[in-house]
Amino acid sequence: MRLFSSIGRSPALLAFLTQLLALAALFPLFIIFSEQNISLFGWAILQGMVAALVSLRLNMARWWIVIHLLFMPAVTATLALSLPPLWFGLVFLVLALMYGKTYQTQVPLYLSSQEATKALSAMLPQQQHFSFMDLGSGCGGLLKTLSHLHSNGSYYGIEAAPLPYLVSTVRKILSASKYSIQWGDFWKDDLAQYDVVYAYLSPVPMQRLWEKARQEMQPGSLLISNSFIIPGVLPEKSIQLNDFPGSTLYMWRI
Ligand SMILES: C[S@@+](CC[C@H](N)C(=O)[O-])C[C@H]1O[C@@H](n2cnc3c(N)ncnc32)[C@H](O)[C@@H]1O
Repeated sequence: MRLFSSIGRSPALLAFLTQLLALAALFPLFIIFSEQNISLFGWAILQGMVAALVSLRLNMARWWIVIHLLFMPAVTATLALSLPPLWFGLVFLVLALMYGKTYQTQVPLYLSSQEATKALSAMLPQQQHFSFMDLGSGCGGLLKTLSHLHSNGSYYGIEAAPLPYLVSTVRKILSASKYSIQWGDFWKDDLAQYDVVYAYLSPVPMQRLWEKARQEMQPGSLLISNSFIIPGVLPEKSIQLNDFPGSTLYMWRI
């Protein structure tokens, strides 16, 4: 039972098992048609189709269906390029340093748009001093822009993924911007110190984030989420943006 519940909570594990299941389902066909001249790429397309059907049956999110459909064909097509193994190692290393933590956090890296940054900037106190936290600060672009636009604020960020953290640190030094970035887990930080907390995460941690914000943030402080709502909690304000992902900023006053 515990095994099933941990699989259910881990989309990556479920995805791995989906591919295994598709492989097992195709195995009898491999045997029957082993004499036929079916290319590896042909088998990969078949594997992708079966895996996509399995993920559809398992009610996985829609993007998983597309990922399953394309995964094996993409792997075989890449192998056909006969690239030196060092390239695979390098690409794997970069992806692991950028997205490796997503396995735990279920929050990948994508960046706030210019429109979101502008709208967020208009929501910040214009005169008095305030402290601002970007939970999962990515490559630090948002903090850099805001710290230049509003010098009346103190800006902080916490980022779990090593490569984005490194990029934001180098960026901070090169641009002489005034913000602090920490490499770590924002769940371990105390939100009581911030007047404005910004989160651009994913649907997964929003309920937990609301519990944390309610326990730790000071009355009157602001929690702003880009794109993701807190289930069952109406925001005080929401701003629909005209950017590429069609984001909305949601604001809750504690
Ligand atoms: C969608 S990106 C947002 C980046 C940036 N805040 C922006 O708006 O451009 C979310 C980031 O949160 C980071 N993250 C997710 N969970 C985290 C955690 N528990 N502690 C620190 N960073 C986390 C991810 O590594 C990712 O870089």
